[in-house]
Amino acid sequence: MEITLSIIKADVGGYVGHSDVHPELRRKAVEQLEKAKKNGLIIDFSQGEVGDDIALIMTHQKGVENEEIHKFAWDTFTAMTEVAKEFGQYGAGQDLLVDAFSGNLKGMGPGFAEMTFNERPSEPVIIFLADKTEPGAWNMPLFRMFADPFNTIGLVIDPSMHDGFRFEVHDLIDEKKIIFNCPEEMYDMLVFIGSPSRFVIKHVFRKSSDEPVAVTSTQRLFLMAGRYIGKDDPVMAVRCQSGLPAVGEVVEPFAFPHAVAGWMRGSHHGPLMPVALEDDTPTRFDGPPRVVGRGFQLKDGKLIGPRDMLGDKSFDNARQLALDAADYLRRHGPFEPHRLPLDEMEYTTMPSVMKKLKDRFLPA
Ligand code: F6R
Ligand code: MG
Ligand code: MG
Repeated sequence: MEITLSIIKADVGGYVGHSDVHPELRRKAVEQLEKAKKNGLIIDFSQGEVGDDIALIMTHQKGVENEEIHKFAWDTFTAMTEVAKEFGQYGAGQDLLVDAFSGNLKGMGPGFAEMTFNERPSEPVIIFLADKTEPGAWNMPLFRMFADPFNTIGLVIDPSMHDGFRFEVHDLIDEKKIIFNCPEEMYDMLVFIGSPSRFVIKHVFRKSSDEPVAVTSTQRLFLMAGRYIGKDDPVMAVRCQSGLPAVGEVVEPFAFPHAVAGWMRGSHHGPLMPVALEDDTPTRFDGPPRVVGRGFQLKDGKLIGPRDMLGDKSFDNARQLALDAADYLRRHGPFEPHRLPLDEMEYTTMPSVMKKLKDRFLPA
């Protein structure tokens, strides 16, 4: 059975500040999703969230970038925005960047990750949702799942994985894409994906098929006032087992809370902390950035789950390391490398400060 898995997310209002979502917004999302299931638009759904972002996790048979599905998501976020306004939620409607929906969600604000595939007799999928970071945050974990034998022993000892995988990498600034074959072109690929603010892994494929096995949300970056904006709390879906990384190999990268861009005002590096579903509330300095994992078994398009994949005790050390790294980085205050370089910050006062001091800068 050919299934499309669509994860569409937006921040349409935070509770309190940018730390969580109010139960009334969740209720509205579920109400709309139930209607869509009843009228046959979607097969099944699960409502996900992390921090101030809500994700509509849906299965259907309409393919990716489908107008009806995207319009449904847009209308749902619009309805949730009304609730957010009613309850005075912070930044109500903040991710709905245009006035009206047209065609599909590209460039409209909400993020989406979608893939169409033939559902296997047993189809384990993990959906990762992150807050206070950018899509490139998935580069290192995806590389480690599908290309690093120190993470994924299946690449070495499972005959069906030994040939490696293909990675589709997007250049968010030039809006181009390229496919890398790994392991053969691994070092070439790392030149690019090591710069996650610009180059982002969009899909992973088996060598033998064009059917995706992993997908991320990527957002185009917008050049405004000389700097790129559009960091956006990303989502990712990864299929697991039998010829793909095992569930344990898919979650293993999150045992290292690598440094990502985002955190306070989208302008700081911080550790990506794996957390349990109930701990998805970035708080200290609006963070640290965090990731949750929702595991499902798909059956005829039904989402059997979620199981909390990163709440397990085995991630406790990663959480502790993340908290220690957060302490270490915070002590840098307004200095790099905690604060992002000038051209990557979401907020900056540089142009106005420069203007004010222009006459006081003398030749040196
Ligand atoms: C980061 C984020 C928050 C806000 C910060 C300031 O992605 O959402 O850290 O940037 O709370 O928010 P404003 O400018 O809305 O007061
Ligand atoms: Mg927000
Ligand atoms: Mg957010």
